[in-house]
Amino acid sequence: MAGGKIILADVNPINLLIDEKSLIKRINPKTKFIIPVHVSGRGENIRKIVSLGKKKSIKIIEDAAEALGSKSQGKSLGSFGIAGCFSFAPNKILTTGQGGIVVTNNFKLFKKLKRLKDQGREGPTTGGEDKYVSIGYNFKFTNLQSSLALSQIKNINWRMKKLREIYKFYLKNIKQNKYFRIINFNIKSGELPLWIDVWCSNRNKLYNFLKSKNIVCRYYWEPINTCKPYKSSFKNLSNSKKLQKKMMWLPSSLDMSVKEQKKVCEKINYFFSKIN
Ligand SMILES: Cc1ncc(COP(=O)(O)O)c(C=O)c1O
Repeated sequence: MAGGKIILADVNPINLLIDEKSLIKRINPKTKFIIPVHVSGRGENIRKIVSLGKKKSIKIIEDAAEALGSKSQGKSLGSFGIAGCFSFAPNKILTTGQGGIVVTNNFKLFKKLKRLKDQGREGPTTGGEDKYVSIGYNFKFTNLQSSLALSQIKNINWRMKKLREIYKFYLKNIKQNKYFRIINFNIKSGELPLWIDVWCSNRNKLYNFLKSKNIVCRYYWEPINTCKPYKSSFKNLSNSKKLQKKMMWLPSSLDMSVKEQKKVCEKINYFFSKIN
């Protein structure tokens, strides 16, 4: 919408984050922003990206949609770049139905964002004295949404604890093997596992087997460069392409009981015991 040209970089298959070597290759003199995505709450590469940005005078906008409450070496993801974007869609740690927030400590940007989300208005925006100073959009966040978010913030610590427990339970109870691995989180550094991403060499078979046992996982996203609007962007994203057919999320809901998690672990272990 801002008219920028999007250039995609490949991902690192170990942690699913932007691959730094691929990123460096894609930077050119016109590059204005780098947008790292903190996949499922991971962000261990953020310091490297920030220092790369500093060296090259490129600003960082963090896609922290999945990283509310997650940290890297004790500092909150979303607070490293000029702006951090968080999603409050239904599958996030905190939801307002839809919507989200942008955080920044840059006052000029803050004012601009306020205008953009409010139809280009500045100053008091009720009472008929509206001043339209730029083009804008109606991206306003409603009071109702805010109250929903505030009610959930009250038990955010419980939610964070539960997500860590889910991850630790899977790690402890699923026997990883050469056909199956759980993508690691750096819990000590403060990463918060929003969803449990797994790599599986025979993913579709495992997915269907689990489905037959009433356990529904979710396949990973299509790589963006294979989607129609971005087809003209870089095509050579071999890691993304390879991973997409092997990745899925295990059930990761805050509602999961230990009994349900146990069942998932048992069925996965059973599946692989038949292969080995
Ligand atoms: C990594 C990532 N970026 C962006 C978004 C978009 O967020 P929203 O749906 O709140 O616009 C999502 C939502 O799922 C996401 O997971």
